[in-house]
Amino acid sequence: MTRKRLVVGNWKMHGTAEFAVHLAGEVVAAARTHARVEVGIAPPFTALGAVREVVRRTPVALVAQNVHDQPQGAFTGEISTAMLADAGCSMVILGHSERRHVFGEPDELIGRKVQAALGNDLVPILCVGEKLDEREANGTLDVVRRQLETGIAGLDAAGMARLVIAYEPVWAIGTGKVAKAEDAQTVHAFLRKLLEEKAEGTGGTVRILYGGSVKPDNAAGLFAQPDVDGFLVGGASLKGADFAGIIAAGER
Ligand code: PGA
Repeated sequence: MTRKRLVVGNWKMHGTAEFAVHLAGEVVAAARTHARVEVGIAPPFTALGAVREVVRRTPVALVAQNVHDQPQGAFTGEISTAMLADAGCSMVILGHSERRHVFGEPDELIGRKVQAALGNDLVPILCVGEKLDEREANGTLDVVRRQLETGIAGLDAAGMARLVIAYEPVWAIGTGKVAKAEDAQTVHAFLRKLLEEKAEGTGGTVRILYGGSVKPDNAAGLFAQPDVDGFLVGGASLKGADFAGIIAAGER
């Protein structure tokens, strides 16, 4: 089974609703001319409503950057999966390295968020990735294995089949230091094997994205790797032309 390529822009904490609407319009135009690639954008929560109107009845998916694991309650400042579904989101980024390492989210919490997302028909984009010291100590595969296994703990095969995984080496995020395409491929192939061991069939169908300093000029080399199915893009997703260039690289 072929896996449809997927490119998701993570806008992080950038931009007003006006900025978001303008950028979303540029993304819609790029997505319409590149049908081989599925496209998603993750604006800040405050711009979800405005961006929803721009992407309505277009091929662009509305994605959230995070969610709380509980369905409701006294959790000031938090957002539930039902609220995201209500706001028009179809996917949610979980376990992004900034959530793990800046906000201290543990693996188990991220696993609970994955379950909560699936319970509301949101596709979780589960992020995994090693820090520089972990890579230098040859710990990369152990780290991503632990993060993946804890992130999907408790899922049955049907739940696993709905996941998207994003491999994002922490040292490559926002630094301009992209992973070598072959190194990304090694980790992607490892994750794919793990998925297949857990639930037969998922190794071939679950999409595994790469993230970390993806730009128009390095996207093609990464796309050329057999287990790289697309990207989670930060900085370059804030410029319409750059993001369009990355989407275009997936069309070839
Ligand atoms: P970057 O961010 O593309 O700016 O490195 C990637 C990410 O944080 O998902």
